[in-house]
Amino acid sequence: MLEVIAKIREEALARVAAATSSEELEALRVLYLGKKGELTRVLRGMGKLPPEERPRVGQMANKVREELEGALKEHRENLSRREQAERLRAEALDVTLPGRPVTRGNRHPLYQVLNEIKAVFIGLGFDVAEGPEVESDYYNFEALNLLKEHPARDMQDSFYLTEDVLLRTHTSPVQVRVMEARRPRLPIRIVAPGKVYRRDDDATHSPMFHQVEGLLVDRRVTFGDLKGTLMAFLKQMFGDQVQVRFRPSYFPFTEPSAEVDMSCVMCGGNGCRVCSHTGWLEILGCGMVHPKVLSMSGYDPEEVSGFAFGLGVERVAMLKYGIDDLRLFYENDLRFLRQF
Ligand code: FA5
Ligand code: MG
Repeated sequence: MLEVIAKIREEALARVAAATSSEELEALRVLYLGKKGELTRVLRGMGKLPPEERPRVGQMANKVREELEGALKEHRENLSRREQAERLRAEALDVTLPGRPVTRGNRHPLYQVLNEIKAVFIGLGFDVAEGPEVESDYYNFEALNLLKEHPARDMQDSFYLTEDVLLRTHTSPVQVRVMEARRPRLPIRIVAPGKVYRRDDDATHSPMFHQVEGLLVDRRVTFGDLKGTLMAFLKQMFGDQVQVRFRPSYFPFTEPSAEVDMSCVMCGGNGCRVCSHTGWLEILGCGMVHPKVLSMSGYDPEEVSGFAFGLGVERVAMLKYGIDDLRLFYENDLRFLRQF
């Protein structure tokens, strides 16, 4: 009996030492020490032994069991340390590497300028209104006194979806939409920013660009109010030293009409490619709302008057940051965009 136990001991210790995984060790534990295990069977069979042999056999079997349990425990710990080390190596986690900083983006320069423009007009008491970019011929032209065969339509050729539906060529249709929605209430005091589209393409003209429309309708509004409002705006955007000129112009929806130019920052007014060698860059069109537009929109031109303007956002941004080609705004070159 003692020899049987010695043989079990030898074999069990050898197999435990050779085991290469925790699962294998667990299987060995069940095989030798489990309920139906080999050593357990020996201990159970002790009853059949002569009484004088029982103590020695029992002692030895217990000693071997303890020895085996110890070997299993030690080997299990070794294995689990090794398995953990292997897992860590596989994950290749180097906690000494420097962290990767999360880079922060910034708003597109055009929208920074657009927000600044809005903020100035909100400060002057204007609300912000919006209109659709896909517009009907009626709002884009007819209601602004630009009838079908009007030659001024040529300057605003656009992208037509049908004969009567087009991508709006300016933000002026929002004037009409706002007056229709609010009549007969006074005053109307809104700015309407947004995208507009034209068949244009050069360093100062983009086929898609941004305008901010302004409209003020009330009793006794004068051209002086228009000029004062625009000068207050331009001084806040560009500082008190801003150089501006009002130039007589023509729009079918305003009378009288003017265009406003700013001194070209690229050449200091000496003349260059950007200002077509004039020293000036046009930033907006404006005027007193035409009586026909007022009456078509439901206001009595004998009772009320108003002024309107349409500001080119790209032009303001070019002058503010000294950018000589507006196409840079749309190329999405990060080296350009990150500067703002
Ligand atoms: C108009 O669009 C009129 N609706 C403005 C207006 C509104 C007049 C209200 C009277 C009353 P104009 O076509 O000039 O006008 O355009 C206005 C401004 O948009 C220009 O001064 C210029 O700054 C800008 N602009 C015009 N075309 C382009 C273009 N292709 N790319 C970038 N900016 C442009
Ligand atoms: Mg113009």
